[in-house]
Amino acid sequence: MKSIKLGNTIIEANRVGLGAMPLSLENRPDEMAAMEVIRTFIEGGGNFIDTANVYCIDDTDVGHNEKLIAKTLNCLNNTTNIIVATKGGLRRPKGAWTVDASPSWLRQSCDKSLVDLDCDSIFLYQLHAPDPDIPITESIVELAQLKEEGKILHIGLSNVDVEQIKLALSVTDIVSVQNRCNLFEKKSFENGVVEFCELNEITFIAHSPVGGHFQHQQRNQNLLLNKTAEKYQASTYQIMLAWLLNKSPNILVIPGASKITSITDSLKAENLEINETDMQLLGRI
Ligand SMILES: NC(=O)c1ccc[n+]([C@@H]2O[C@H](COP(=O)([O-])OP(=O)(O)OC[C@H]3O[C@@H](n4cnc5c(N)ncnc54)[C@H](OP(=O)(O)O)[C@@H]3O)[C@@H](O)[C@H]2O)c1
Repeated sequence: MKSIKLGNTIIEANRVGLGAMPLSLENRPDEMAAMEVIRTFIEGGGNFIDTANVYCIDDTDVGHNEKLIAKTLNCLNNTTNIIVATKGGLRRPKGAWTVDASPSWLRQSCDKSLVDLDCDSIFLYQLHAPDPDIPITESIVELAQLKEEGKILHIGLSNVDVEQIKLALSVTDIVSVQNRCNLFEKKSFENGVVEFCELNEITFIAHSPVGGHFQHQQRNQNLLLNKTAEKYQASTYQIMLAWLLNKSPNILVIPGASKITSITDSLKAENLEINETDMQLLGRI
């Protein structure tokens, strides 16, 4: 399976990761079924799992997704080769998503994630989103301090623009940027984030790569997408993932999955080459 070097580290991640969020939101699968999804992903060659403390139902359930991943990895006796990337900076009051990237909440969240992930150090800790009420540098200074203390090994950002990445870089090293990016939502190409990351040895992680948790079924109806899938004898989901992977060697995709069939299908996108003409046609969607 093709891999990508994470930022300026020597760690290699396979380019199709697992977005573990759907295993912990409303209508989630039961624990055994969720663990099977993660196991299938790992046995299929995947080694990068994206999670967050707030992948859960509400504030009484924070850490659900992290605990599930830790339990699965412990059951598999295989914790060393799997890269787990988590995030801090949001809250889930009564099931809502709110931003809190204050230094104190980031520290509290990181300490809880260490427990829930059952590890001494978090490989990649991502700022979930900049807090409009706090300068991003204040959040990043706290993450740099957590790194200094050995609680996290590498720092990533999420939901940011180029200016915010530059501000974060003025404080410390950043190895990854995770933004919403798919065939239908190309803002990170248009505003220069993907290019900036490529030029600065920062891995670009495309979240919601097949259209998003609530939109993927509707996106999947697109006519050109369906025609292209037919031509390549692939699923529409594979085409959406392969389009991102073919756009830049610096992109890692993290399709979500709550079913085994979804992640098995997505993993096949890794080796799907799309010719230049079709890349351009798809790019006009
Ligand atoms: N940083 C952020 O702010 C942020 C925001 C959103 C998401 N994320 C991350 O990005 C990951 C992916 O985003 P997402 O889950 O919202 O959206 P997504 O990956 O675009 O879509 C996920 C849904 O698409 C379906 N799917 C995916 N691949 C499929 C395939 N090959 N065949 C059939 N169905 C397929 C899955 O359905 P089934 O459930 O039926 O398997 C899954 O629930 C999340 O899990 C999370 O880790 C980050």
